[in-house]
Amino acid sequence: MNVLWVFAHPEPRSLSGALRDDGLRTLRELGHDVRESDLYAMKWNPVVDARDEVNPDILAEQEKLEWADTVVVQFPLWWYGMPAILKGWFDRVFVKGFGYGVFAEDGRTLRYGEGRLAGKRAMVVLTAGAREPAMGPRGVNGTLDEVLWPLHHGTLFYAGMSVLPPVPVYGANRVSDTQFAAARSHLRRRLGTLETTEPIPFRTQNGGDYDDDLVLRPDRSPGATGLAVHLRQAG
Ligand SMILES: Cc1cc2nc3c(=O)[nH]c(=O)nc-3n(C[C@H](O)[C@H](O)[C@H](O)COP(=O)(O)O)c2cc1C
Repeated sequence: MNVLWVFAHPEPRSLSGALRDDGLRTLRELGHDVRESDLYAMKWNPVVDARDEVNPDILAEQEKLEWADTVVVQFPLWWYGMPAILKGWFDRVFVKGFGYGVFAEDGRTLRYGEGRLAGKRAMVVLTAGAREPAMGPRGVNGTLDEVLWPLHHGTLFYAGMSVLPPVPVYGANRVSDTQFAAARSHLRRRLGTLETTEPIPFRTQNGGDYDDDLVLRPDRSPGATGLAVHLRQAG
């Protein structure tokens, strides 16, 4: 399989850097072809400008995405989101006609499970200072799924990709050797099952669940509101 690893951390000798190094090594040992976009090392320009459609740095990233079967997106959680350099990678690379504004022959807009990146898988690997309970159902941060909603649902799934459950490392500001070993083996396990892990069951836009205003039909998750209604129900 072809795997693109997008990495957004300024310091290679960080926890994130160590996990990235081990992740790339693991993928190669598993026989995958691997390419990397190490955004700080590339001095990636995150600022959108009017000439972007023809900028070679964007075309190069789009070519890597076309090549990839799976994309790993790794970052430290900063202010409930991704570092600006990574946001700027999505802003500049997922442009009209590539990440959005993609149409079927019948004029339908292809998004939320359909689009240029349909058929590819994506998986987020992140480190967070918060401890796990604080990102749980009643944790002060909101749940990890809620924090990752804009990236998972609003970006990766929007552009067509199947999104695998994330690989979080909680309490990442102070990690003992034992905790690091556990995080590394968790990541290795998840990299070993990239092809078989069930994606998050987001409802597709054109699968019949939404009306013309893109509102969930009343008989789907009746009476319920909130982000979880956009997951297909089991059974
Ligand atoms: C600017 C900044 C913002 C941060 N915001 C959050 C946050 O919103 N939630 C959280 O759990 N941790 C937050 N943290 C902690 C980082 O996620 C944590 O330091 C990092 O994941 C540790 O991994 P590293 O050693 O590889 O950088 C923040 C850290 C920085 C520097």
